[in-house]
Amino acid sequence: MLNLISRLLAFFFCYEYNNFEHMYQFYIETYGCQMNVYDSELISSILISSDFKQTHDDRQANVIIINTCSIRKTAEDKVFNRLKHFESRKKKKKDFILGVVGCMAQRIKEDIINNFPFVDFVIGPDEYHNIVKAIIDSTQGIKSIKTVLNSNETYEDIIPHHFLSNGISTYVAITRGCENFCSYCIVPYVRGKERSKKPEVILKEIEKALLKGIKEIILIGQNVDSYRYEEVDFADLLQRIAINFPGMRIRFSTNHPKDISNKVLETVAKYPNICKHIHLPVQSGSNKILALMNRKYTREYYLERIKAIKKIIPSCAITTDIMVGFCNETDEDFKETLSLMNEVIFDHAFMFKYNPREGTYAYYNLKDNVPEEIKIERLKKVINLQNKLGLLSKKNDIGKTYEVLVEGTSKKNKSEYMGRNSQNKVVVFSSPVPIEKGTYVNVFIEKVTSATLIGKIIK
Ligand code: SAH
Ligand code: SF4
Ligand code: F3S
Repeated sequence: MLNLISRLLAFFFCYEYNNFEHMYQFYIETYGCQMNVYDSELISSILISSDFKQTHDDRQANVIIINTCSIRKTAEDKVFNRLKHFESRKKKKKDFILGVVGCMAQRIKEDIINNFPFVDFVIGPDEYHNIVKAIIDSTQGIKSIKTVLNSNETYEDIIPHHFLSNGISTYVAITRGCENFCSYCIVPYVRGKERSKKPEVILKEIEKALLKGIKEIILIGQNVDSYRYEEVDFADLLQRIAINFPGMRIRFSTNHPKDISNKVLETVAKYPNICKHIHLPVQSGSNKILALMNRKYTREYYLERIKAIKKIIPSCAITTDIMVGFCNETDEDFKETLSLMNEVIFDHAFMFKYNPREGTYAYYNLKDNVPEEIKIERLKKVINLQNKLGLLSKKNDIGKTYEVLVEGTSKKNKSEYMGRNSQNKVVVFSSPVPIEKGTYVNVFIEKVTSATLIGKIIK
């Protein structure tokens, strides 16, 4: 029905503007996490199946959709700036439609339209099925605000068809939402209850990706370890995928320290096509802070899980998220984060300073009492330490040979190639013969930098 309406409208607009393509070119700009990247592809699929055309040049577009993130204030500020940027275009171009979707849309809803009256529609993460209608309504001057969270919505009827920018990988969401309610985090409020997708739907999505030439899938969820559909848990799902798609590399993110089980670790160890990399956000090394964050594990439990990973999957890379300057974090607490980093030696870390988010438990109940300059100082310290430890962890790779999935030529030097090993480390290498992206090669590692392994191709 919507398809028909959109065709009819297209006809009238074509008639009016004498340019069909001009009317229905959409452009999506994506902020935030992997889930948002995935959702932008869902939205693209919905629009393409309703005869909209996608463009990757915002100047060509007359429908611009901004898919937004609320995790920190800086993420929201970026979007406010983009909206201001598009305001003048909105004034100049009569048939230009501007929509805001995603987590900010869910968080601040009609405030977006109140503060930016030139925005045509606002749609939250569980209402993307309404996007075609919202665009059609916009062409008639009707503004839409659709932000009902729906804990049954998994978009099982839509197969997103996409490649990540490397051209060979794709995300596959296995859960949506989050119910962990870490006290600092806005995600449970903007993404709603956790729900798991049917295993059959996930397998079908991967099958479609395989047919399109995808070589690597990245299973995503805010906490993949809590995946459960009837009797199938995350380890079972991983096993099914590994067996069904022996030629496909399988990655996943994010694991949660309180939930990651030995069964998952044993499954990762057992199947060569499951990548040996676990992203296990620790946030803090202090038990006092972990309790205030409502993370539901202790430093000791986290370190025990790290031991289990290292024992069950000896070749596994371990990465993390670290937050500094959370409420009541003293120098002593902070030192415990540094000592935990020294103990684990993470291969990579994403590091942040705490930013209070309205709506969360911490915002109302805990004092944001670490001064900004101390937050900055602590952030610098964790970054410096991680740079050192990251290099240390990579030095262990010198002299090893890794199977690398080739992603293309190196950015810095076009005569060299780049790809990733199973541990998700970037490998740059030279080759006497041309190599196509998407192929596997063995690379002997000769030297390393803090970000890259460097080597040569071997037979
Ligand atoms: N689901 C994942 C990650 C979600 S958000 C998990 O549980 O780890 C990614 C990271 O952003 C978090 O791990 C945390 O380190 C950071 N983050 C979340 N809320 C934040 C806030 N209010 N201020 C600063 N960093 C935050
Ligand atoms: Fe946020 Fe915690 Fe859920 Fe991660 S697990 S998305 S940090 S509430
Ligand atoms: Fe941001 Fe939403 Fe992801 S708040 S981190 S885009 S789930």
